[in-house]
Amino acid sequence: MNQWTREARYRPLSDIAPEVYQTMKEEVRNSPWRFSYHIQPPTGLLNDPNGFVYHDGTYHLFYQWFPLGPVHGLKYWYHMTSKDLVHWFDEGAALIPNDDADSHGAYSGSGFIKDDAVHIMYTGNKRDADWVRHPSQIVGHLRSDGRIDKHLPPAIPNVPAGYTEHFRDPKVFQEASGTWYCIIGAQRDDLTGCTVLYQSEDAETWTFLGELKTQYPDFGYMWECPDYFELDDKGILLFSPQGIEPDGDAYQNIFQSGYMIGEKLALPELTYQHHAFSELDFGFDFYAPQTTQAADGRRILVGWMGLPDISYPSDMYNWAHALTLPRELTLQEGRLKQLPVRELDLLRKRTIHAQSTEINQAMVIAQAETFEIELSNLALQTTQFEIHVRAADQEATVLTYDATTQRFTLDRSRSGAEVPAVDYGTTRTVQLEQPLHQLRLFVDRSSIEIFLNDGEAVASTRIFPKSTSQDITLIGDLTADISIYEL
Ligand code: FRU
Repeated sequence: MNQWTREARYRPLSDIAPEVYQTMKEEVRNSPWRFSYHIQPPTGLLNDPNGFVYHDGTYHLFYQWFPLGPVHGLKYWYHMTSKDLVHWFDEGAALIPNDDADSHGAYSGSGFIKDDAVHIMYTGNKRDADWVRHPSQIVGHLRSDGRIDKHLPPAIPNVPAGYTEHFRDPKVFQEASGTWYCIIGAQRDDLTGCTVLYQSEDAETWTFLGELKTQYPDFGYMWECPDYFELDDKGILLFSPQGIEPDGDAYQNIFQSGYMIGEKLALPELTYQHHAFSELDFGFDFYAPQTTQAADGRRILVGWMGLPDISYPSDMYNWAHALTLPRELTLQEGRLKQLPVRELDLLRKRTIHAQSTEINQAMVIAQAETFEIELSNLALQTTQFEIHVRAADQEATVLTYDATTQRFTLDRSRSGAEVPAVDYGTTRTVQLEQPLHQLRLFVDRSSIEIFLNDGEAVASTRIFPKSTSQDITLIGDLTADISIYEL
């Protein structure tokens, strides 16, 4: 095993001979648990989605990437493009951390369209000889050869007074008037998290406006990856706070990510009237989501299906993590609903089960490794019902619904030989507002994404089963319309 010294973590990809890198890629390709239809790194570690934007018929989606191992080190932006949000083309590394301002990583940021071209704004992570961070915010644009040109020196070279070196992840958005804003994740000098905003007329020269005034003055020690957008005349703020303690079913993972719905931000006054923070996802592996607007106006979200500071079984094969499937966000009764984007129907290769199904006690209804289940019109005769996927012998990922409490539980304690993050528990539960009537599951070689009641609740989770664990079992007395598609 590699020793992941500081030197090893900050080694650039260009230091590695092409044949050596080719061998690394081959080894990763042969690893178990490689995804069939999710975005995953060719080698090394993937984290946050970055620069998600639609332009001229193409979606651009980048991700944080450390090429040389399953650890957080010198970050690049890796570039993927798609016409349909489903089939993604590998465009390679687009943003290379080879300038003084980003000498220790091209950290997270966002995309925007200006002058008919894809632009980005990201955090240059630089450390000095004493290993103190000096973040700056850098604008760039995507060239036709797929590389990003940085507009140096940085647009925002320093951290304003009152905030620490934890100052990053600019998300750029534009008002109807044409004025540009960016919202940045920050930590105050008193070590509490918040966001700040800047304003610009040309998205190159930025003026500090100040801190967004929310009703959470003391909510964790750092807010990462903020995102602001408007839906149905409401203003929605997403962010990933760090340092929140577990509270009932909520906040069970090492770090959280969620949203607040409110009135539109008052700009440039920076006031925001909003409701309480809620998590976006009740699964084990979800962080740092980012949204963009599709050609037809839909708001689409993609998250990192992983978390910082947690090791995963694929680490031993020199790669880690994936992005979630894209989800469409809508507002219904004052809450965000999240549905898998409709384009995902394109993944369906073959129907392996489609009927109104009656289950008495327990039945293996199909077998598959990568599949979607769509269940609707659920009528339960017992109070409890279970779905087991990726099951065989001792293995199973177990979903349980209890009709008396309307609680839905995901249990990954038997999901595979190695279960990540057991210190944070092996079950996750959500309290549904309505009785369970509909669900969709997307299962890949090492993940499960669960959408309940047409997007009322969503869970994204990594599992590491044997490839031969393929039973799909239903337990309980029930009738439902069930379709299963091989993906
Ligand atoms: C979130 C994060 C960001 C940062 C990036 C570095 O996972 O810590 O705040 O920009 O990852 O890779």
